Amino acid sequence: MTPFLPSTVVRAADRFVREFGTDAQFAAVAPGRLNLMGDHVDYCGGWVLPMALNRCTAVVGTLSNRPDIEIFSTQLQESVSLARGADDFGAPVSGWMSYVQGVVAGFVRRNFRVPGFFAVIDSDVPVGSGLSSSAALEVAVATFLEALLGVSIDPWEKARICQEAEHQFAGVPCGIMDQVASVFGQEDRLILLDCDSLELRRIPISTQEVSILSLDTGVHHELGASAYPERRAACERAARLLEIKNLRGATEDTLESRRTDLDPLVFRRARHVVREIDRTHLLVEALGRWDWDRCGTLFWESHESLRDDFEVSCFELDAVVETARALGPSVGILGCRMTGGGFGGNCVALVKTARLNGAISALTDGYQMRTGLGLSIAVNRPGAGAHQVILR
Ligand code: GLA
Repeated sequence: MTPFLPSTVVRAADRFVREFGTDAQFAAVAPGRLNLMGDHVDYCGGWVLPMALNRCTAVVGTLSNRPDIEIFSTQLQESVSLARGADDFGAPVSGWMSYVQGVVAGFVRRNFRVPGFFAVIDSDVPVGSGLSSSAALEVAVATFLEALLGVSIDPWEKARICQEAEHQFAGVPCGIMDQVASVFGQEDRLILLDCDSLELRRIPISTQEVSILSLDTGVHHELGASAYPERRAACERAARLLEIKNLRGATEDTLESRRTDLDPLVFRRARHVVREIDRTHLLVEALGRWDWDRCGTLFWESHESLRDDFEVSCFELDAVVETARALGPSVGILGCRMTGGGFGGNCVALVKTARLNGAISALTDGYQMRTGLGLSIAVNRPGAGAHQVILR
């Protein structure tokens, strides 16, 4: 429960009154996430180091006396309905409502009777930006349903319901990182997640000395939709050939020793995964020693690997990283890498807090000069995970 109302909840609650002519009774929020290290390793059983953002998606609403679900999105300024039978979640829909439908279906499959409801969704997590707006939506809907039904489900089960929604209703075979970050986020803590055993450790981080920036290219290339399952399939192929459960079980040595058995492309995909998992551990160690230079080096290396071995970067993400690299320590920039699924979206950078303002304007100007495009930069602190909000 939260002592104050997040702005997304206030906006959604106001809109609810205008749309539905009554006050909303229930509200829930769930954050997006920013991943510091370990991209494209969650579905290989690897270790990842995300944080929940202090930006979230809010769902506010109330019970209806009909079985249907009607939701207004303030971001898209549209209302979408889901027609349901008494105990069924309806025919598959497309667009953002498919995430809602997937979460409802997950509850129904677990024998919860989900009643009809009206809701408004508002969010300050930008869509398609590599900050997991979809996980924020799924987890916000699941948390809202808990409020609506008066139940509390195990948080791991909640993350799984949301991941299933993404697999089965949105058609994205994602890992579990985004949903776990959104459910388990905590202020001023990173999440070190073992995606094989689902063991979770919280890593304290202070932004007094070094700040965590997200740099939004504002672009989102459609190629990502087909590339993601392809990347996942290549990793599974590598694991099968190496006769291991997943690539988390491989080392650089085992990979090298079997290099001739692997297709060169599959080899490079696997090499990214193995090295990126190592980098997650190395980053946690370096953070523990406040060794910011080492942290920065790991960021640059990670970007190169995602760009060259895994090939999920794009012109705009590379241009952000090249701009950051050219500026480097002269403006307090320690390291920068793309974050999330890739093919557009955001980079994440570590910047000395004392140099923040200069670094932000140098990055924006440098990127504009290099590409002619705008860059939106935000300074982030790890935020709280999903929770219900009491409306007053
Ligand atoms: C997307 C997926 C995650 C993860 C990242 C890449 O955000 O949803 O599961 O695979 O890409 O690290």
